[in-house]
Amino acid sequence: MPIISATAIAHPNIAFIKYWGDLDPSLHIPANGSISMNLEGLITRTTVSFDPSISQDQFMLNGASTKVEELERVRKLLDRVRQLATMSAYARVESQNNFPLAAGIASSAAGFAALSLAASHAAGLILNEKDLSRLARTGSGSACRSIPGGFVEWSAGHDDKDSYAYSIASPDYWDLVDSIALVSREGKPTSSSTGHYLADTSPLQVARIADAPHRLELCREAILERDFEKLAWVVELDSNLMHAVMITSTPPLLYWQPASVAIMRAVQSWRRNGTPVCYTIDAGPNVHVLCPAEVAESVAIQLRQLTGVIQVLTAHPGGPAIIENNHPNKGETDF
Ligand code: PMV
Repeated sequence: MPIISATAIAHPNIAFIKYWGDLDPSLHIPANGSISMNLEGLITRTTVSFDPSISQDQFMLNGASTKVEELERVRKLLDRVRQLATMSAYARVESQNNFPLAAGIASSAAGFAALSLAASHAAGLILNEKDLSRLARTGSGSACRSIPGGFVEWSAGHDDKDSYAYSIASPDYWDLVDSIALVSREGKPTSSSTGHYLADTSPLQVARIADAPHRLELCREAILERDFEKLAWVVELDSNLMHAVMITSTPPLLYWQPASVAIMRAVQSWRRNGTPVCYTIDAGPNVHVLCPAEVAESVAIQLRQLTGVIQVLTAHPGGPAIIENNHPNKGETDF
């Protein structure tokens, strides 16, 4: 067998309605559905080469070897692909991000989306978007939302077959901007995988999950109606609910830094003064500040002036994961 390789590109995504807690941790079947926006301009590019001459899988991230646990997660996804394609060759995986790792930007989402697409393509599998999303989910839950383009909903489902993400609006449907205010470049002390396990230890998780269908409906409507006020309300509520669960887990997870809280307060005061803007925070201290494109430049300028903000990255809605130098699809593989 010759070396066969493929390169794929995927964007990270920011969740408007968050995934926090699993029904089935081994397959990342989430306790609730979620909605996100892909982030244009922020990119993970991954090349997978199945090479019969190597004796184990290899993974390089930004030119360096990774921790054993990260290689293990990559290896598990490659095993699924090998099983689907009935092949046995090991692979060399090389991945590059153009954004800081562990910055509260879901690098694992873009990473596993690009890995799923590149590995399945190199293995000769032609998976449709739903099956690619299912495959990406097994690497990292939120990665299933980086397969389709634009504004994406992950239907929680109950098992491996019916838990996947699809686009609810294309990237050009609504020109929102995510201004990511970095307040720290340090890796997060507790990974989101550990956090998902702890979610059920919070007495608030039951209430968060019970109300999730309502928040999903409001968020979906806000996007489809391009209603920023409605979006702002539900996005901040959902972020605050997730962090309330985190803070009240055993052991507690407090991801915010003083600068995170200062940004949240500033964003709320700008909104009270008439600027359409809201915040959301993932499992880290950095703050994602959302607004319509018309006000994005002035919002980014104001963010840069706040004490503790190291850098502001901005992103419009991004497209789906794609194969670089796309080849026409010949058919589809079921799994
Ligand atoms: O996909 P994971 O295991 O990295 O979890 C993502 C968790 C959050 O980013 C906090 C929320 C989300 O829905 O993206």
